[in-house]
Amino acid sequence: MRALVVGGGGREHALAWRLASSPSVDDLHAAPGNAGIGGLATCHDVAADDVGGLVKLVDYLDADLTVVGPEAPLVAGLADALRERGRRVLGPSAAAARLEASKAFAKRLMAAHAIPTARAGTFEEVAEAAAFVEELGGRAVVKADGLAAGKGVVVAREPATALAAIEDCLVRDAFGDAGHPVVVEELLEGPEVSAFALSDGREVVHLGLAQDFKRVGNADTGPNTGGMGAYAPLAWLAAPEEERIWQEVVHPTVAAMRAEGTPYTGVLYAGLMLTAEGPRTLEFNCRFGDPEAQVLLPRIEGDLGELLAACAAGELAGVRVGLRSKAAVTVVLASAGYPGAYRTGFPIEGLEEAGRVPGVVVFHAGTARRDGTVVTAGGRVLAVTALGGTIGEARARAYEACERIRFEGMHRRSDIAAAAAEREGR
Ligand code: AMP
Ligand code: GLY
Repeated sequence: MRALVVGGGGREHALAWRLASSPSVDDLHAAPGNAGIGGLATCHDVAADDVGGLVKLVDYLDADLTVVGPEAPLVAGLADALRERGRRVLGPSAAAARLEASKAFAKRLMAAHAIPTARAGTFEEVAEAAAFVEELGGRAVVKADGLAAGKGVVVAREPATALAAIEDCLVRDAFGDAGHPVVVEELLEGPEVSAFALSDGREVVHLGLAQDFKRVGNADTGPNTGGMGAYAPLAWLAAPEEERIWQEVVHPTVAAMRAEGTPYTGVLYAGLMLTAEGPRTLEFNCRFGDPEAQVLLPRIEGDLGELLAACAAGELAGVRVGLRSKAAVTVVLASAGYPGAYRTGFPIEGLEEAGRVPGVVVFHAGTARRDGTVVTAGGRVLAVTALGGTIGEARARAYEACERIRFEGMHRRSDIAAAAAEREGR
């Protein structure tokens, strides 16, 4: 079949890499892609959020399957537009993508269907929101309702911090419409994990769990980013605890969406906190994580193209996915300044040498090709990924590969998967 990958980050390079080696895929395209994806697929100059342009591209290519990487085109209705034209697409309808696009929608769904999450309220009035913060004991998490590019969440350990965040949303309009209403919720404690599944609206196929590292600096310091690294599997998590995540959160969410008349199809990503009382859902995303995809996809056995096409066609019944026992670790190499302002266009050296470390694949996140050289073109530039027999081995390989890569201002964390590797050794 002919497949199109929408997006141009590390997640999409990992998708393209697995699709390119799928026997079911004989012609691979990407929009817009990047320098790494360009080695595997024909790249088209259509932006990932240009829904009209993407629909035209799918028709022009006569693509059999469209795999959508980021959330923005899904929230804007790309999957609806393609399905109306009889095209197979991996990704939810705009109505189902509200699970990610509106925290208030997700909260209401969870409350109505007894899906465990933090206690929360949704407010348009500062005084009411402030009263709820008091009810929660002065510690709260304040979230802008809509998509705020990862900046709309404030974890407040004092009432004054919570109040300032509430006013940012409701009074100072720091996030525009996305800040209305504001969601205030109970502050939870525990390790954070992400669970990934495919659903065709009815069936659920588990793709595994991963942990990502959101802060820019070592030991979780500095501002939030899209993610500075990830690893899988979570060897430290006991099987019954993992099972609770699938049975208490993921399966009930798919059933709830179906019951409400907005069946969920595509990748379902649940962000969870494992509290002493059990798993609690922090958020849903309607896509693979980036960089979580870079550690999940290499572990999925079999023909990824066939699996994603079956999901898009509503034919997941009876499908089971094997996960390789190998561990995967990915380390993001970022531009100086990221997640704030950064410069681009710096040549990247050592890509081939890095790729020669056993078990390593270097996924491009923000790169471009200029006069035959690969240059930086984004905040997150590369996701250096390695497989190994253990987390420790995968981690050592990923960092060895990182040592071989150079570009001006290159920044990375040095503690990705360090704690997991240490626990493994005990
Ligand atoms: P979200 O965008 O909802 O995933 O929130 C971003 C980050 O804020 C999460 O990854 C958590 O680290 C933190 N966070 C969100 N909700 C809570 C909560 N209820 N309690 C503690 N931390 C939270
Ligand atoms: N790495 C977090 C995300 O993709 O949302």
